[in-house]
Amino acid sequence: MLPRMTARAPSRFATPVPTSALAAAPDTDDASRHDVPTRAVYVIVAHPRWRDSRVNRRLLDAARGIEGVDVNDLYSTYPDFSIDVAAEQRRVARADLIVLVHPIYWYSMPPLQKLWLDDVLSWGWAYGHDGHALANKDLWLVASTGGPQASYRPEGYNQHEFSAFLPAYEQMARLCNMRFLPPHVFYGARRSDDAALDAHVSAFAGKLVTYPQWPELIAMAGAPECPDIPVTDRPRCATGAVEVAGDSNESANANAGRVA
Ligand SMILES: Cc1cc2nc3c(=O)[nH]c(=O)nc-3n(C[C@H](O)[C@H](O)[C@H](O)COP(=O)(O)O)c2cc1C
Repeated sequence: MLPRMTARAPSRFATPVPTSALAAAPDTDDASRHDVPTRAVYVIVAHPRWRDSRVNRRLLDAARGIEGVDVNDLYSTYPDFSIDVAAEQRRVARADLIVLVHPIYWYSMPPLQKLWLDDVLSWGWAYGHDGHALANKDLWLVASTGGPQASYRPEGYNQHEFSAFLPAYEQMARLCNMRFLPPHVFYGARRSDDAALDAHVSAFAGKLVTYPQWPELIAMAGAPECPDIPVTDRPRCATGAVEVAGDSNESANANAGRVA
């Protein structure tokens, strides 16, 4: 029997979620019988040009096809780049797993995804003194690259393993007291065959359904201790969340709107 979370099959989801993954998924009744907690998932997808997308549009559709998963297509939600910080913080606060889905652009993320991080993960809320809103949550990067895996080798044209480009993501998670889960990467987005893409999308959907019952999480340590980042180390920012030393102690949560 299929778990209830997968009751709605996504229209573009060519390959079904593997039955092995579904077998591990907690059925609602089963979950209550065995005290398996239901965990909330927030999937944030950022792609500046959907019409050109082969990989990420499939991931977006797959996520949307899974009942109970909160999905946000950032470039459709905020075409003017004006992020509703309070709304985003509410969505993040509700989630146990936060998933960033995007193509790799210049070894990093598309600009609206970066702005989302800048605005939403503010000092005093996500990190820094009294900033514990993300504590013990999980962060999962689901990324695609134009370069094939062989290009992400010391002898390849990218000169480094893909993991060499991830310390900024990892450290951001650490500062926010989150676990950085092993990324799910699709290499060679334009050259890989359809079967490889189908398998990638299936594995992604299977993981959303079965979270947190992933084999690789069993041995993984909990979230790292979050260091206290002093207010002096962040300038007064556009979201108005930070005061420099000596200024009045403005609420760290006064970041619900961007300063014009
Ligand atoms: C502005 C820009 C920058 C890019 N930078 C990289 C890069 O640094 N490394 C890489 O492997 N691919 C890079 N690519 C290729 C994209 O990552 C690739 O086209 C994308 O992952 C494919 O996903 P999609 O089919 O959803 O568009 C870049 C593409 C663009 C448009």
